[in-house]
Amino acid sequence: MCGIVGAVAQRNVLPILLDGLRRLEYRGYDSVGIAVVDAGKQISRIRSVGKIIELEKALDENPETRGITGIAHTRWATHGPPTKSNAHPHMSGPGLALVCNGIIENHEDLRLAQKTRGFKFQSDTDTEVIVNEVYQHLNNGADLLEAVQATIKVLEGAFAIGVICSDEPHRLVGARRGSPLVVGIGEGEAFLASDMSALISVTRDFYILDDGDVVDINNANICIMDSLGQIQQREIKTSKLTAESVELGEHRHFMLKEIHEQSTAIANTLEGRISGKSLLEESFGTEANRIFDATLSVQIIACGTSYHAGLVAKYWFEELGVPCQVEIASEFRSRVHAVPDKCLVVTLSQSGETIDTLSALSEAKKIGFANSLTICNAPESSLVRESDLVMMTHAGPEIGVASTKAFTTQLVALRLLAIALGRRRHLSSEHEAKLVAELRELPAKVEEAIKLEPIIKEIAEQFADKHHALFLGRGTHYPIALEGALKLKEISYIHAEAYPAGELKHGPLALIDSEMPVISVAPNDRLLDKLKANIEEVRARGGKLIVFADVETEMSDQQNLQVINVASVDSSIAPIIFTIPLQLLSYHVALIKGTDVDKPRNLAKSVTVE
Ligand code: F6R
Repeated sequence: MCGIVGAVAQRNVLPILLDGLRRLEYRGYDSVGIAVVDAGKQISRIRSVGKIIELEKALDENPETRGITGIAHTRWATHGPPTKSNAHPHMSGPGLALVCNGIIENHEDLRLAQKTRGFKFQSDTDTEVIVNEVYQHLNNGADLLEAVQATIKVLEGAFAIGVICSDEPHRLVGARRGSPLVVGIGEGEAFLASDMSALISVTRDFYILDDGDVVDINNANICIMDSLGQIQQREIKTSKLTAESVELGEHRHFMLKEIHEQSTAIANTLEGRISGKSLLEESFGTEANRIFDATLSVQIIACGTSYHAGLVAKYWFEELGVPCQVEIASEFRSRVHAVPDKCLVVTLSQSGETIDTLSALSEAKKIGFANSLTICNAPESSLVRESDLVMMTHAGPEIGVASTKAFTTQLVALRLLAIALGRRRHLSSEHEAKLVAELRELPAKVEEAIKLEPIIKEIAEQFADKHHALFLGRGTHYPIALEGALKLKEISYIHAEAYPAGELKHGPLALIDSEMPVISVAPNDRLLDKLKANIEEVRARGGKLIVFADVETEMSDQQNLQVINVASVDSSIAPIIFTIPLQLLSYHVALIKGTDVDKPRNLAKSVTVE
């Protein structure tokens, strides 16, 4: 978590740092800070608790703050509460400042050792030991680069850092291990950031640092060294991001913008992956054919919303005869496994940097899982680099913390994967043609589902004074209920739970009363009659139901039952369509609750801590 940005230029870097911070705020937003050095070797540091707007206010009170080199940080607290003293940059000595994204696992040992050397600590963070260590090496005669190289040798954990020093006002040194860091290439200037989007207003050209790399930016000369200190020529990557794609445009929130972008995102994810009536298998990579032939089963690993996509896919894979297990990454990585023969590990991730998913993949490789495939939305991310096969979801940047278009495009990619593996099992070419045709219908069906927004907005009013909600689904729609509940709780702070509808009678029915809205999705599938029976069980106990039902189910309003008709779709794509109204419902409930929709409390977009 946390976002870092840095710049070395001939001009005042403050606007570049602030713009970068705004674009990185999705990575954490409980405190924020900058440090800049001017040509006269003066360093200034300003930090604030809260979001970037608080830093801007502090800068307004200090209008003289400017510099030609600088670093900045937006924090998601791990060690130490979100106070000003814990906000980055951290300093050691009068002129050395450092920002860090990550966790230093041996910070307690380093802290003890530094205390015996006379260092006084100003914060509760694990980061302060890094800046002290760099300071110690500078004092012993090292220059900034040498000091950083020596420091990272003693650090354990995952981190990305940026360091500046008032004695060398044209220099910025960065390093990464585990956490992401990119170098932006400007004309006579250079930059550092946690991701490309942070720098999109100043450059399109980037070096993506490899794990263990150190970068020395000195007067806009960029020198990258690997973990052995050898100079490396990394390839320049040109970002396809546009400034508009990471800006709000006409929308009030990124979440709403991203919900509305889903039809295009899905069309983009399908483009080049299907042709005529069939899947283009090579779109999974040149090795796909060989690896799929050698696959007997699938192990999906993911977190949060991405995990829910995996749960839906399990139904799809097994229907086509492909055995599939799905596990939350943080659980997968920390238990003993009986490794199945020829099992393909599939990681799902919007960011490609979720540390639990990365660690689970690394564990899977270590213990002998055969091959790996990632379905990911971030090109150049660590998961993409570390997987044998890659299927990018072309959702475009997702900025809202609550994942929306990444989820539906993951489902599309999983559907494609199910076809690829199903071909080697029960899937006939006629069946494949039918599934492909249904996928082609998706963008238009998503547009139709989005048209439900006005009615969903009205329904959201019913949640204004509610503290709990229950979501129900059956089959592939149980994970969709889980996703609906997650969306509602994370952005509206209403406690929400999801159950397979058949499980109600085994306990949760006791919760039902008129104060607990029950939301259900009712596709027109073979489980419909059973679902209807469960809905009646709730009504019979005074529960109030809101049901999003396929128009062909012919369900209609009754006492304590409000039905919202969703255009009819085939059951193979229904989970994607029924997700849309649930996203819109949580968005409009959050608006009524007045929460910070795009940056809900305590959360961050890219979870790079364990
Ligand atoms: C919820 C949400 C999170 C993420 C989870 C995994 O709306 O966004 O639950 O899905 O943190 O993130 P990725 O997909 O980036 O690995």
